[in-house]
Amino acid sequence: MLQILPMLLLETQLSMVSALFTVEVPQQLYIVEYGSNVTMECRFPVNGSLNLGLLTVVWEQKRQGQSKSKEVYTLRNGKAFSLSQHHDYIGRATLLHSELKLGRALLQITSVKITDAGSYLCLIDYQGVDYKYITLEVKASYKRINTQVMRKQGEDKFGFMCQSEGFPLADVFWQNAKNFNLSGSANTTYTLTTDGLYNVTSILTFKPSMSENYSCVFWNKELNEETSAHISTLGSYHLGLAQDREYFYTHHVL
Ligand SMILES: *[C@@H]1O[C@H](CO)[C@@H](O)[C@H](O)[C@H]1NC(C)=O
Ligand SMILES: *[C@@H]1O[C@H](CO)[C@@H](O)[C@H](O)[C@H]1NC(C)=O
Ligand SMILES: *[C@@H]1O[C@H](CO)[C@@H](O)[C@H](O)[C@H]1NC(C)=O
Ligand SMILES: *[C@@H]1O[C@H](CO)[C@@H](O)[C@H](O)[C@H]1NC(C)=O
Ligand SMILES: *[C@@H]1O[C@H](CO)[C@@H](O)[C@H](O)[C@H]1NC(C)=O
Ligand SMILES: *[C@@H]1O[C@H](CO)[C@@H](O)[C@H](O)[C@H]1NC(C)=O
Repeated sequence: MLQILPMLLLETQLSMVSALFTVEVPQQLYIVEYGSNVTMECRFPVNGSLNLGLLTVVWEQKRQGQSKSKEVYTLRNGKAFSLSQHHDYIGRATLLHSELKLGRALLQITSVKITDAGSYLCLIDYQGVDYKYITLEVKASYKRINTQVMRKQGEDKFGFMCQSEGFPLADVFWQNAKNFNLSGSANTTYTLTTDGLYNVTSILTFKPSMSENYSCVFWNKELNEETSAHISTLGSYHLGLAQDREYFYTHHVL
């Protein structure tokens, strides 16, 4: 599991000090939006003024279903030890040094990715060793829905396309102005982006005689969140079909 732990435990030889030294986490679970910053906190006892040279802080991350953990940030005897930092975290993970004297080991990760989700271990050695786990969950709303009107060459049919990226995987529903469920005539597919997001594309095929307003609804089941975009066939007599993205909203379904 953890390579550094047995070594540190040996170092302190399970002394009385070790038994008294405890690391605490004020917040066990962090849920953050993809692309945002997160600061996770572990607390440790500091008696009086901090002796930085005696302090070692290790932050490691483990994704669900993976056996090997990644080194996120290491401070060894008061100095940043970046040689073994996992490349996923280079330039994105820092320990807020100014807070250490208050007994706060704050790990800041910027521009959070889907792959940052998982279990974080914070291990602190300060004349005693202890560690705790923190869980990080990352979500991505299907915020921006791109819409497009397509015409099938040589066919008497049109297609409305809605495409968006998010996490976890969303279901896509189509409705007309009367809230009639049209999902049966839609084809929804997805790919995975290099950032681990789902790139969901849904195409509704219909006959051009049907002049109506349509909306596609991205339902992020796990987040209980719906986003939608509207497309209308206004002006279809003239230019074929006009695309009119009227509005976009996000709301939570109770
Ligand atoms: C995230 O942190 C970086 C570096 O501190 C900062 O430049 C950026 O504005 C922050 N982003 C957000 C969304 O707070
Ligand atoms: C902190 O200081 C108090 C009093 O000086 C002492 O009794 C205690 O053992 C110290 N705790 C640690 C963790 O060093
Ligand atoms: C719409 O219809 C599809 C199948 O045609 C179904 O899977 C889906 O659950 C329906 N959605 C709603 C909101 O009723
Ligand atoms: C849905 O779209 C995919 C990708 O464009 C295509 O391979 C598949 O045949 C389509 N399915 C249906 C039922 O039209
Ligand atoms: C998502 O898929 C669409 C096609 O379905 C493609 O045009 C677009 O570039 C993809 N976006 C990303 C970020 O992969
Ligand atoms: C579509 O929406 C527009 C703008 O809200 C409205 O003017 C138009 O009457 C609607 N068309 C239909 C067929 O409902």
